[in-house]
Amino acid sequence: MQSSSLPSHWNLDKILDDLNDAGFALIDEVYPNEYVQALVDECSLHLEQFRAAGVQNGVMSHIRSDHILWIDGQLPIAQQHIQTLKHLSKVLNQAFYLGIKEVEAHFACYHAGEFYTLHRDNPQQKNDRMISTVFYLHKDWQEDWGGQLRLQDKNDQWHIIQPLPNRLAIFQSDLLHEVLLSKQQRLSITAWLRRGNSIWNG
Ligand code: OGA
Ligand code: MN
Repeated sequence: MQSSSLPSHWNLDKILDDLNDAGFALIDEVYPNEYVQALVDECSLHLEQFRAAGVQNGVMSHIRSDHILWIDGQLPIAQQHIQTLKHLSKVLNQAFYLGIKEVEAHFACYHAGEFYTLHRDNPQQKNDRMISTVFYLHKDWQEDWGGQLRLQDKNDQWHIIQPLPNRLAIFQSDLLHEVLLSKQQRLSITAWLRRGNSIWNG
């Protein structure tokens, strides 16, 4: 896979139109299967290091029950995805003047029974997150397994998005959304395209 540009089969015009019209966009068949497999392997190899995302400074919140692992230089396969998101950031900056400067990302694993209740990734514009992206990397997903991303678009319409393997959901970080209870192990990378310079806040 080329890391110097965006995958050539992405329909950028449609992505930009959808973001402009609704505040969110979906890309399917994002990467070649070999890359997705390598990503699943890298994620699976580190599953024991994931920590409960709802616990901050020893305090447990009940809005989410998934487990996460922040992505750093020790995860070279995931870094390639981040590189791609940096290229996407440039395109979004040109189109929408977002001033995105960096990408922060974590793997997320929802075990059966886990969820993330209604929230915004950038409440009251309190952080630098402009655009949220979620890439789904489990091997298979069926409708009755739950785990959908439920999202209110910028026109206040609600959408139920299946976490299909090799799908990338892209949305404005200020939009309201949730992850419905998952009945199977659900693997993803959440990444935020941010303006500003502080990388870690989680
Ligand atoms: C998040 C989030 C959505 C998803 O990580 O903040 O809302 O579909 N994820 O995993
Ligand atoms: Mn979110």
